[in-house]
Amino acid sequence: MNPVAYVNGSYLPLSEAKVSVLDRGFLFADGIYEVSAVLDGKLIDNDAHLARLQRSVGEIALALPEPIARIKEIQQEIIRRSGLVDGMVYIEVTRGAGPRDFAFPKEATPTLVMFPMEKDIVNAPSAKTGIAVITVPDIRWERRDIKSIGLLAQVLAKQAAAEAGCQEAWMVQDGVITEGGSSSVFILTPDHVLLTRPNSNAILPGCTRKAVLALADEQKLRIEERAFTVAEALAAQEAFITSASAFVQPVVRIDGQPVAGGKPGPIAARLREIYIGFARATAE
Ligand code: PDD
Repeated sequence: MNPVAYVNGSYLPLSEAKVSVLDRGFLFADGIYEVSAVLDGKLIDNDAHLARLQRSVGEIALALPEPIARIKEIQQEIIRRSGLVDGMVYIEVTRGAGPRDFAFPKEATPTLVMFPMEKDIVNAPSAKTGIAVITVPDIRWERRDIKSIGLLAQVLAKQAAAEAGCQEAWMVQDGVITEGGSSSVFILTPDHVLLTRPNSNAILPGCTRKAVLALADEQKLRIEERAFTVAEALAAQEAFITSASAFVQPVVRIDGQPVAGGKPGPIAARLREIYIGFARATAE
């Protein structure tokens, strides 16, 4: 792949793509992002990601500099120009460059950046082996439903996970798991109920979460949306995470203790397979 980025109307090699040091994304994390998966050069569940982008910018009173239909064209153009086959397209929109005042500038033009990332999500070895997670306190702000570029808490959580030899951090608040550093969390209870936390300001409404819940429902799985504890996850039949960049990933260790017998379970494997089928069938 020859990664080509889009920056405010121009396409250029990713290594040459730049924004101002006065950009409010850089100075204040005053911006929103989205990540859509790409399989065989096509975008996966992209309308859901663009709808969430629109909602997120609305929640911070930021107007998109281009209509959604145009953003979709730019995503596709990035894929085409970069020769991206499998991976993700990253989108970031910020309130633009201006004097460093906390309050919104009167006349800033939003910054819109997009670039490709290569990743073979379907054939990730961790889908077969499962991943290990650690739990960390959730120290984030109270509007986690907004896909803010302010990700320092997740950066620190995922760095702690990496240092512990783990692939994800599960954030815990008030005794229950909120979500992963960059993923939604599911467990299958001993009596075979698929559990995930309901959407609220406490978590990002995952697009993959939503699709997987719909597919699980079609499979006639019993589903309950409620928060659960680390102890419940450790006692679960299965645990897994979902995200655009990982699809469905089994979790086999939590804080060094085996979960689900330390092996990926059949329901996570089945939902992963079904999700990939859904992704390919609806890719555009
Ligand atoms: N992260 N929760 C958080 C905190 C996330 O950052 C993400 C996605 C998810 C899953 O959402 P979705 O299924 O829509 O990707 C849940 C992206 C992939 C990232 O930051 O790279």
